[in-house]
Amino acid sequence: MSAKQARSRTRRPPNGQALRFGPALMARLDQLAAITEIPGQLTRRYLSPAHMRSMRKVEAWMKQAGMTTRTDPLMSLFGRWEGERPGVPAIAIGSHLDTVVDAGRYDGGLGVLAAIAAVAELSRTGERLEHAIEVAAFGEEEGSRFPTHILTSSAVAGAVKPALLDAKDAAGITVREALAAAGGDADAYRACARKKREIAAYVELHIEQGPVLEAKGLPLGAVTAINGSVRSTVTVTGFAGHAGTVPMGARRDALTGASEMILAIEELAASQADLVATVGRARVLPGAQNVIPGRVEFTIDMRSPSDSVRQKAHATLLASLREIAHRRGVGIDIDTFQQNPAVALDAGVIEAVAEAIAACGQAPLRLPSGAGHDAGVMAKLCPSGMIFLRCKDGISHNPAESITVEDADLGVRALLEAVRRLDRRLPAGVRPLASTHRA
Ligand code: HGY
Ligand code: MN
Ligand code: MN
Repeated sequence: MSAKQARSRTRRPPNGQALRFGPALMARLDQLAAITEIPGQLTRRYLSPAHMRSMRKVEAWMKQAGMTTRTDPLMSLFGRWEGERPGVPAIAIGSHLDTVVDAGRYDGGLGVLAAIAAVAELSRTGERLEHAIEVAAFGEEEGSRFPTHILTSSAVAGAVKPALLDAKDAAGITVREALAAAGGDADAYRACARKKREIAAYVELHIEQGPVLEAKGLPLGAVTAINGSVRSTVTVTGFAGHAGTVPMGARRDALTGASEMILAIEELAASQADLVATVGRARVLPGAQNVIPGRVEFTIDMRSPSDSVRQKAHATLLASLREIAHRRGVGIDIDTFQQNPAVALDAGVIEAVAEAIAACGQAPLRLPSGAGHDAGVMAKLCPSGMIFLRCKDGISHNPAESITVEDADLGVRALLEAVRRLDRRLPAGVRPLASTHRA
C-alpha cells in the first residue's frame, strides 16, 4: 500500500481517532449502490433481481464477519453473531435493503452495512457479548413496488396484514407471486415472526433525511419518536373526450379535477405546523395529448408527530376532495390502504444511544423522525431505538444523498457503543433459545 493510500485509510476526523471503519464502509456502500434494476441510477425494489443480488452480496459480507445467516420466508436476510453462550436472546441491528426509485445510496444500506462492520469488529477481536447480535437486512421498507411499506419488519414483529401479500405491483404481479419466483413463501409469513424474548432490543443507524443535525453542526442524533403516517390512493373518474371538439363548459376533465384536489392537499398541509402531505405519484389516462383525461390516479402520503392532528386533517381533506369532485361532476374513489401510528421509541434504548454518542465525543441531540423506519415497527416486538447520521443538506430519496467518511466512521462507533451498553443493561436470559440459524 502506498504512503498516500495508507494516509487516506487512516485519515483523522476532528476528534483525532483514526478512521477505522469509515473508508471500508463507504467503499462497500458504493458496491451495494451498483446493484440496481436500472443502470445509471439506484433503484432496488423488493423481490427484484437486483434485490436478490444485493442479498447475496450482503450475505457474503455477513459470513466474512463470522456470522451465520438465515433468510426468512418474506426474503429478509439475517446474520447472527453468537453471544457467550449459544442461543441467548439477540440485540438486533440493521435496516432495509430496498430503495425508492432513483434513490440515494445511504437510505437503508447504511444501517445494514454499518451493522455488519460493527459485528466484524467484534469478530476481529473475538469479543463475545452476553447477547447475540443479529444483523437485519429487511427486504421491503419503502413500498416502492407494492403498496406494502414496512412489510417485512412487520412480519418479524408478528404484525403483518396477510391481505398485503396479495397486493399488486404496476404490472399486476402480487407479492405472493413475486415471493414464489424469488424463492420466498407468502403462506409461511407467520414463520417470520420472532418471539418477544428472542430479540432483546433493536437499534437502527439511519441517515436523518432532514436538515436538523447539519444545521446544528452535529454528526449524530438519538431519535426519540417516529411520525405517524397515512397513505391513500385517489382515483378521479371523468369522461375521456376529443381535445378539439368538446367545449370547455361541457367537459368532465379528470386531470383538472385532480389538480384542484392536489393543490387543496398542499394548502391544508401548509396551513398546519406539525403536518406534511405529499402527492408522490400520479397516473393520467388514457394519456394522449389530444384526449381529455378520463381517469387520474394519485397517491397521498400524510404525516404528523400527533395522531389526532393527522387523523383530523385526513378526514377534513377527504371531505374537501369529495366536495371538489361533486362540484366538478367527476367521480372519486379513495382507498386508504395504510395507517401507521406515531411511535415513541424506547426510553432505555434512547438513553443508551445518547450515552454512546457522548462516548464518541459528540453532543447527543435528541430529535424525532419525520421519515418512517423499520424501527417504528420493531417497537411492537422489543425496545427499539435509532441513531441518526447527518446527511448533506438533509437530502434523501434523491441520488444527491450524501454523507462523509468521518461521519460514517462515527456511525459505526456509536452503533457498537450502543450495543455494548444495551448488552450490559438488558438481561440476556438464562435459558438458551432454539437457534434458527444455519452455519
Ligand atoms: O417513507 C418513508 O418515510 C421511508 O423512507 N420509507
Ligand atoms: Mn429508510
Ligand atoms: Mn426511505
